[in-house]
Amino acid sequence: MLSPILFLCCSSTVVMIFAFVLQLLLGLERVVSTSAEPPFNNPPGVDIWCGKAYRPTNSSFDPGGWLSPPPEGSNLLDLRVRPRHSFYLSSETKASFIVDTVVNGKYGTPYKNETWDNAKSNGTSVPFTEMDLQIRDATNQEILLPATRIPINATNIEIEFDLQKTRYPWTIWAFGASPEGLQTYHKILHINVLPERNDTGSVARIDSLYGGIQTKSSLTGNTWKTIFPYSFYTSWDWIASTINNASATTNLQTFRDSGFNIIHPIPPGGTDPFNHTLFSEFLALCDELELYVMYDMRHTYQNQSSIATQLSYLQSHPSLLLYYTADEPDGWCDPLNATHLSNDYIKSLDPYHPVSLVLNCANFYFDEYTSGADIILEDTYPIAANTTFSPVYNTPCNATYGDCGCDDCHANDPAYPAYVHNPFLDISDRVDNFYTYQNWLGRAAEKPVWGVPQAFWDQGSFWERWPTPAEEAVMSVLRVNHGAKGIVSWDYPTNETLEGTFSALATVLTHENVTAYTLGAKRYGSLVTNGGDGLVDATAWVDGNGVLVGLVYQGYEAVSGKVEVKLPVSAIQADTFLFYGATGWEIGADGKTLVKSGLEALEVTVLKIGWT
Ligand SMILES: *[C@@H]1O[C@H](CO)[C@@H](O)[C@H](O)[C@H]1NC(C)=O
Ligand SMILES: *[C@@H]1O[C@H](CO)[C@@H](O)[C@H](O)[C@H]1NC(C)=O
Ligand SMILES: *[C@@H]1O[C@H](CO)[C@@H](O)[C@H](O)[C@H]1NC(C)=O
Ligand SMILES: *[C@@H]1O[C@H](CO)[C@@H](O)[C@H](O)[C@H]1NC(C)=O
Ligand SMILES: *[C@@H]1O[C@H](CO)[C@@H](O)[C@H](O)[C@H]1NC(C)=O
Ligand SMILES: *[C@@H]1O[C@H](CO)[C@@H](O)[C@H](O)[C@H]1NC(C)=O
Ligand SMILES: *[C@@H]1O[C@H](CO)[C@@H](O)[C@H](O)[C@H]1NC(C)=O
Ligand SMILES: *[C@@H]1O[C@H](CO)[C@@H](O)[C@H](O)[C@H]1NC(C)=O
Ligand SMILES: *[C@@H]1O[C@H](CO)[C@@H](O)[C@H](O)[C@H]1NC(C)=O
Ligand SMILES: *[C@@H]1O[C@H](CO)[C@@H](O)[C@H](O)[C@H]1NC(C)=O
Ligand SMILES: *[C@@H]1O[C@H](CO)[C@@H](O)[C@H](O)[C@H]1NC(C)=O
Ligand SMILES: *[C@@H]1O[C@H](CO)[C@@H](O)[C@H](O)[C@H]1NC(C)=O
Repeated sequence: MLSPILFLCCSSTVVMIFAFVLQLLLGLERVVSTSAEPPFNNPPGVDIWCGKAYRPTNSSFDPGGWLSPPPEGSNLLDLRVRPRHSFYLSSETKASFIVDTVVNGKYGTPYKNETWDNAKSNGTSVPFTEMDLQIRDATNQEILLPATRIPINATNIEIEFDLQKTRYPWTIWAFGASPEGLQTYHKILHINVLPERNDTGSVARIDSLYGGIQTKSSLTGNTWKTIFPYSFYTSWDWIASTINNASATTNLQTFRDSGFNIIHPIPPGGTDPFNHTLFSEFLALCDELELYVMYDMRHTYQNQSSIATQLSYLQSHPSLLLYYTADEPDGWCDPLNATHLSNDYIKSLDPYHPVSLVLNCANFYFDEYTSGADIILEDTYPIAANTTFSPVYNTPCNATYGDCGCDDCHANDPAYPAYVHNPFLDISDRVDNFYTYQNWLGRAAEKPVWGVPQAFWDQGSFWERWPTPAEEAVMSVLRVNHGAKGIVSWDYPTNETLEGTFSALATVLTHENVTAYTLGAKRYGSLVTNGGDGLVDATAWVDGNGVLVGLVYQGYEAVSGKVEVKLPVSAIQADTFLFYGATGWEIGADGKTLVKSGLEALEVTVLKIGWT
C-alpha cells in the first residue's frame, strides 16, 4: 500500500485530471460507434464462402478481412478493467472488477519501466513494476476502490467492491498511476445492474474470470448456478416427432437422461419458424426437465419484428439460457454490421440473456462478426475431410480459394507435416486462435469460446465418413483442454454408435466436481509432455482442493513406452480419481509429473489429483 504522503499526492492528481479526461473519453465513445462498412472483395457474380471464390469457373482473389497480430513491443500499457459478471441484479450487494495491466506494442498509453518511488528508491529511479489503481463512480466521483498497488503486466487481478443499489446504469472511472504520479492510465467502464425479474423467466450471465455461463431461476432454487453446456444442435423435426408420441423410443426425457443439459433446436425456415403449439409444449417440457434452451434465430436474426415476436414467446420460461443469432455469418458473408445490430436489438428487449453465434472461417472479419455476441462458437470439421482439394466443387483449397468444409485447415495436407502427424491440430488451433484474436484486439473482456464437434455425415459432402466414438471423445476433451466453455455438437439425432460416448462425456463434463475446475479454477494449457509420439495434449486446472487434468492422445496407433506429463504444481501426497478414460496414470516419484506406460489409440482421460 501507499505511504500517506504519496496517497495524498496521487489522490489530488486524480481529481485534477478527472473531469477533463472523463469528458474527453465520454465524447470519444460516441464518435467510435459509427464506422463505415468495407465491401467484400468478390467481383459481381462470384459466389464466395469465407470471402473466397469456390466455383471452378471463378478464379482466386484476396478475400481480405484477415486479422493480423499487433506490432510487438513493450512501450504501451493497456489498463483493462471489467466487471466480473456481464450484469448484476439489484438484489446483489457484492461484485468485483477484473483488472489487466498488459504491456504491449499496440494498445494503451506510453509506459516506461522507470519510476521514482520515494519509499523504495531513495532518490534514484527504480523499475516501474507496480501501479496504484483507484476506482471511482464517474457520476459523483465517490471512491469504490481506494488507491491499491497492483502488478504491471498482469492479468485477471480480481478486486471486490460493494454494489450500491441506487444508481444504474453505472459509469465507472478507473485510474492507474506510477507511484510518483508521472505515468497515468485510465479507463471508463459500465456496470450493468438490472432489476430482478418480476415474472417466471430466468436470468443468465457470463463470468468473465473463468468464462462460464451461470443462470438463476426457479430451476436453480433462485441461486446462481454455473453450468457447462454439453449437448447438440437438435433437429426440430425430431423434437416435434417425439412430443405427445407414446411410441417414440427417444424423446426429451431420454435426451436429458443421457446427460445432455441444454438443447439447441435447429429452426426450420421462415420468419415464424416453429409451430407455436408444439413449441410451447416443448418449452414446458424443458422447464420440467431442467433442460436449458439455446434459442436459434439463424434465419431471422436480421429481422427485428421477427425477433420481437420470437422473444415474446420465450420470456416466461425458466429454461431459456441464451440466444443464438448468426449461423456461420462469416461463411455466408452476411453484412458486417448484422450481428452487432441484432445483438443490440435483442439486448434492448431482453438484457437478461447472453447472445451467441458460430463462426466457420479461420480468420475472416473476426472483430466485426464477433462484436455481435457474448459467446463465440467455432465449428471446425477436419475429420475425413480433404483439406487441399474440394470433392464438392472440384477445386484446390488454400488461403485465397476454394471451400473444403474446413476453412484454412491442414489436416493430412503433406505441405503441413505437423497436421499429418496430428490431424486434430486444426481444432486446437481454432479454439486457441479465437482467444488469441481477442487478445490482439485488446478486448477488456474475453468472450468465451464454445466448440462444435463434428457429429454428422452427409453422403456426397466434404466428408468421407462418420467420425468414430474415439474421435468424438478426442474432439470434445481437446476443446475443453484449450478453453472451450461449452460443447454443442452438430447434430442430433446422431449416429447411434456415437450416443454412448456422448452420454458418458456429458455425464463427466457437466459433473459439478469437474466444472468446479473447468469453470472455476486457473487453467494451465499445453503442459510439457514426453513420450506418446509427441501427440499428448494435456491441461491442468488448479485450485486449493487439487488438480483436474485432461489428457488427450491424438494418435491413431497405440504407443508403448513411458509417457510423462509435467504438472504445474507439486502433487506429492495426493491421490488420483478417474472421471473418464484409462486407468494407469500415476503421480511420479518427484510429485511433479503424471506417468503412464503406453497409450491406446485416441485414448482420452479426465482425472483429478486430490490433496490427501
Ligand atoms: C463465376 O462463375 C459463375 C458461375 O459459374 C459465372 O456465371 C461467372 O461468370 C463467373 N464470374 C467470373 C468473374 O469469373
Ligand atoms: C538512502 O539514502 C541514505 C542517505 O543517502 C542512506 O543513508 C540510506 O542507506 C539509503 N537507503 C537505501 C535503501 O538505499
Ligand atoms: C521492468 O524491469 C524489471 C527489472 O528489470 C523487470 O523485472 C520487469 O519485467 C520489467 N517490466 C516490464 C513490464 O517491462
Ligand atoms: C508481459 O506478459 C506477457 C505474458 O505473460 C509476456 O509474454 C511478456 O513478455 C511480458 N512483457 C514484459 C515487457 O515483461
Ligand atoms: C415487470 O418488469 C418489466 C420489465 O422490467 C416492467 O416493464 C413491468 O412494468 C414490470 N411489471 C410489474 C407488474 O412490476
Ligand atoms: C412417433 O414416434 C415414432 C417412433 O419414433 C415415429 O415413427 C412416428 O413417426 C412418430 N409419430 C409422429 C406423429 O411424429
Ligand atoms: C402445429 O402442430 C399441431 C400438432 O402437431 C398441429 O395440430 C397443427 O396443425 C400445427 N399447426 C400448424 C400451423 O401447422
Ligand atoms: C449496415 O451495413 C449495410 C451495408 O452492408 C448498410 O447498408 C446499412 O446502412 C448498415 N446499417 C446500419 C444501421 O448501420
Ligand atoms: C485430396 O484429393 C486429391 C484429389 O482427389 C488427392 O490427390 C489427395 O490425395 C486427397 N488428399 C487426401 C488427404 O485424401
Ligand atoms: C490458391 O489456389 C488458386 C487456384 O489454384 C491459385 O490461383 C492461388 O494462387 C492459390 N493461392 C494461394 C495463396 O496459394
Ligand atoms: C453409423 O456409422 C457407422 C460407421 O461408423 C455406419 O456403418 C452406420 O451405417 C451409421 N448409421 C447410420 C444410421 O448412418
Ligand atoms: C464430488 O466432490 C465431493 C466433495 O469433494 C465428494 O464428496 C464427492 O464424492 C465427489 N463426487 C464424485 C463423483 O467425485
